[in-house]
Amino acid sequence: MMFKVPRGTKDLLPVETGSWQAVESLIRETCRLYRYEEIRTPVFEQTELFTRSVGDTTDIVQKEMYTFEDRGGRSLTLRPEGTAPVVRAFVENKLFGSPDQPVKLYYMGPMFRYERQQAGRYRQFVQFGVEAIGSDSPAIDAEVISLAMDVYQRAGLKDLRLVINSLGDKESRNAHREALIRHFEPSIGEFCSDCQNRLQKNPLRILDCKVDRDHPLMKTAPALTDYLNEESAAYFEEVKTSLDALGIEYVVDPNLVRGLDYYNHTAFEIMSTSDGFGAITTLCGGGRYNGLSEEIGGPEAPGIGFAMSIERFLMALEAEGKMPETESKLDAFIVALDEESRKEAVKILGNLRREGIAADMDYMGRKMKAQMKAADRQKAGHVIVIGEDELKNGAAGVKNMADGTQETVEFARLAEALKSRS
Ligand code: HAM
Repeated sequence: MMFKVPRGTKDLLPVETGSWQAVESLIRETCRLYRYEEIRTPVFEQTELFTRSVGDTTDIVQKEMYTFEDRGGRSLTLRPEGTAPVVRAFVENKLFGSPDQPVKLYYMGPMFRYERQQAGRYRQFVQFGVEAIGSDSPAIDAEVISLAMDVYQRAGLKDLRLVINSLGDKESRNAHREALIRHFEPSIGEFCSDCQNRLQKNPLRILDCKVDRDHPLMKTAPALTDYLNEESAAYFEEVKTSLDALGIEYVVDPNLVRGLDYYNHTAFEIMSTSDGFGAITTLCGGGRYNGLSEEIGGPEAPGIGFAMSIERFLMALEAEGKMPETESKLDAFIVALDEESRKEAVKILGNLRREGIAADMDYMGRKMKAQMKAADRQKAGHVIVIGEDELKNGAAGVKNMADGTQETVEFARLAEALKSRS
């Protein structure tokens, strides 16, 4: 019987992990510049955490969660996203008590959604996300958006489109909600059963429906921006002013609604506009979630954040021809000509590695020519040859593969000699 990787998941082989690591380092470095610190939470949580925060009328909760009962009869869910777990950890560990507010956190790890597999959509994917919790300054909204754009731009991406919108505060959302019900109610029979259920419970979700996306009433639906009260409109203006101050270009899209219920005020997405990119163009999504902390039993702690998957990030790099170069450097390869030389080679290899030199040798009993070929394939900087004569003299031949020069170096001085050349 042949086993296969589960649908919607994939193995990352060494030819790919190099680019992943390059992107991960760039992300960590950017977070350091913005002073966001890493948080790691478990990959599963109590199911109710997600039904409450993400919202029980959303696609994620209704169709996409990996929920199971553990042996103790508790309902647990593999995290479909990172915001609810991070806010849970913020509340549980009383990070709101820290003198440094807002608390600025980032995470990188696997998320799980039972979605239909297609390019850029997986059932296990890795999200990098940030959450700034504890401030309701519009300037922090702009900072978070700028961090996301910065990560992409530092990686070399150019074909990006930042779309922003305001979902307003509770009062504005209620006014909009009423308008949506008035708009859809007369024709709700033409919509899918999910939308019919959503009409009274959460009509905003109708705008996010994948089935009824092309219904003519979708285009004429009342826009949230027309229902913003004065305070919400002023908040949005300030976010835009801060983005302008940072020199970040954006487009306002009044139809941008996000697929999770905890959002209010600022919502944003970053798309790839590259021709080579697939059908799903969203690289990153985020927004403000004032009230989420209270919703899950914590104190008032307004927050904003975003998440992007590394999978789509790499797809965008590929589409723009900006995949990072990722050759791992091998400083030295030892070619041993007989059994006795092999024993010495093992010893030398140990010494070199202890001195921080990346080194390797042949373990397949290959002939000299094949060993030289292996050294070439692995792009070794130097080849160290050990045979009968070298053992007798206690010194090896060291060939610099870049310029072809060769010299004889005592075994004990090999590490020193290699270090002085690199
Ligand atoms: P989201 O829009 O559901 O938001 O997901 C954010 C990003 O995760 C997407 O833009 C995409 O890059 C990636 N993503 C989502 N689903 C998949 C999938 N099936 N396969 C590959 N990539 C995927 C959130 O998750 C929020 N927690 C973001 C946030 C953080 N809002 C505030 N703070």
